[in-house]
Amino acid sequence: MFHPLRVSEVERLTDDSVAVTFAVPPELHETFRHTPGQHVALRRFVAGEEIRRTYSICAPAVAAPAAPVLRVGIRLVEDGAFSTYALKELAVGDAVDVMPPTGRFVLEPRAGHFAAVVGGSGITPVLSMAATLLARAPEARFCLIRGDRTVASTMFLDEVADLKDRYPDRFQLVTALSREEQQSGLDSGRLDRERLAGLLPALLPVADVDGWFLCGPLGLVQGAEAALKELGVGRGRVHQEIFHVEDGTAAVSDRQAAAVPAGAVLTATLDGRSGNWPVQEGESLLETVLRARSDAPYACKGGVCGTCRAFVVSGEVRMDRNFALEPEETDAGYVLACQSRPATPEVELDFDR
Ligand code: FES
Repeated sequence: MFHPLRVSEVERLTDDSVAVTFAVPPELHETFRHTPGQHVALRRFVAGEEIRRTYSICAPAVAAPAAPVLRVGIRLVEDGAFSTYALKELAVGDAVDVMPPTGRFVLEPRAGHFAAVVGGSGITPVLSMAATLLARAPEARFCLIRGDRTVASTMFLDEVADLKDRYPDRFQLVTALSREEQQSGLDSGRLDRERLAGLLPALLPVADVDGWFLCGPLGLVQGAEAALKELGVGRGRVHQEIFHVEDGTAAVSDRQAAAVPAGAVLTATLDGRSGNWPVQEGESLLETVLRARSDAPYACKGGVCGTCRAFVVSGEVRMDRNFALEPEETDAGYVLACQSRPATPEVELDFDR
């Protein structure tokens, strides 16, 4: 599932972020072709401990037969085991284990009017969406509303400016800086619900936007979602991806207090092979599977990336928290295995669906 890929470029974007490009050998071109908005999981081992992190692909999607460009944006997270390594040590020629692109926070290029509200490193997947859409769908329009602290801390300034130069009639850009005065006429300050509810109708015909993409820290995404709801935008047109959810965040649902049913057994299918195992007290269903199958898919183990998505074939599970699956996916029977605990004595999951 992981492929060792060589780093072909490390580009410093800001004091605390880099863009890392990997060389994809011809036999893996199809494996690493992405849909705009997707991410990849990277892996490294530190003192025998496996560390996985997901990073969004910032490069535009490239259609076959051209070689895909695998370039990800990485921002330093305080005490981040992977991001610190990426910023301070990673160099051209190093090999890194990379999982093929996944994720359903995507925009397939098509005609229409699309908009995104992003904060900080939330620009990363949206840059790929906007660049691909504008290049491939000549009728499409894209409005980007981005928030950051200062100009110096803003990732992909040049790339976004380039889109503005190339598509002046179809790409609209609004930048809000929270800690710096700016010349765009916008006051400094955060993009919160109240501000967005006032700003969005002044910028674009809200009701005519075909898809909204919200990406960034939890507070920004929740604020933008509330603003869109207030403006009458249907939930089906709103897509979101959250970066960096802290444990103990008020919005994180409490861990389900209910005990695991005595003698609970999990049956799981993965890569066409099934097995069943007893669920131990206190562990998630992902951990149950991982004890026997090290190839079970995961990255964040925090309910954010969606890599561990599985279909509940039978039985019931409770999820501790979910920042990755859309309501349609949970309604259809999908869960995040890393956040799931059995609610019935027998549960069957299918990771292949
Ligand atoms: S591993 Fe990321 S949501 Fe479960």
